[in-house]
Amino acid sequence: MAFPVTRLRRLRRTEELRRMTRETWLSPADLIQPLFVCPGRDVARAVASMPGVAQLSVDRAVRAAEQAREAGVPAVLLFGIPQHKDAIGSESWSEQGVVQQAVSEIKERVGGLTVITDVCLCEYTEHGHCGALAGHDVDNDVTLELLAHQALSHARAGADIVAPSDMMDGRVGAIRKVLDENGLSQIAIMAYSAKFASAFYGPFREAAESAPQFGDRRSYQMDPANGDEAMREIELDLQEGADIVIVKPALAYLDLIYRARQKFNCPLAAYNVSGEYAMIRAAGINGWVDEERLTLEILTGIKRAGANLIISYFATDVAQLLSR
Ligand code: PBG
Repeated sequence: MAFPVTRLRRLRRTEELRRMTRETWLSPADLIQPLFVCPGRDVARAVASMPGVAQLSVDRAVRAAEQAREAGVPAVLLFGIPQHKDAIGSESWSEQGVVQQAVSEIKERVGGLTVITDVCLCEYTEHGHCGALAGHDVDNDVTLELLAHQALSHARAGADIVAPSDMMDGRVGAIRKVLDENGLSQIAIMAYSAKFASAFYGPFREAAESAPQFGDRRSYQMDPANGDEAMREIELDLQEGADIVIVKPALAYLDLIYRARQKFNCPLAAYNVSGEYAMIRAAGINGWVDEERLTLEILTGIKRAGANLIISYFATDVAQLLSR
């Protein structure tokens, strides 16, 4: 039955009616807070291109993790800024590394919080690429071994989930194998399965000090034009043992979040990346948009598209907002 009998505005009349008929609810439980961990004590070094985000020493990261948990955020995702970089990123599997320290401190001091670690070499290599080089290209199979070392060391430090973001072929299988062989079959893998070579990562590379020193990441990260290939990447990662898959970035790829939701019956995360954060913050600081409403609208849109989990630099702030 159409107009005038049907009037969709009837259920939009009051906030109570809108609440009753709301289809998508954003909850603190959907969110994951990324943290950048750096060497030192009592350090909070602001990241210029991401106002409100800072590199934190382990003690400060523990406090940030506590705040996330108190706001109802179930998990943090840790990135490390090492003391020294080298050609193969060897500090990334050091037992004394900042991420390893942060993981064990957070697991010890902050109960009831899941700790996820980003597994990638770009923050740890002097050339800034996500693996070991052969000439000017990243050597896929050599890199798999290095990533497996890193993932194992994170898991040994107490990480609940490891999250490979390098985009090498076969890394999920290589990591699953090393974890299982070392009695860590209970540790989950959240794979950055459909990760695109994106200009939206610009601010992150300042935050993580991980910009490539030559070339770009297009020989391993995906071409932004490819949706079918993204579905193949997800399918292969699931076959290799991924427990959760990620589409990244989120906003220019909502169609792929939707497609992945329709196609696969697995937990799906979307990464609301640094450039997306920076654009909203910049417009908000300038007074050009209502930042709170814009953030809620965007995160709700990502959830409506089909993401079960959203990794966002807004996580703790939004969780506080939602429980107000
Ligand atoms: C590491 C990594 C990157 C991001 C997450 N893990 C950067 C990159 O691939 O260049 C981007 C996160 C963001 O932009 O918020 N490889």
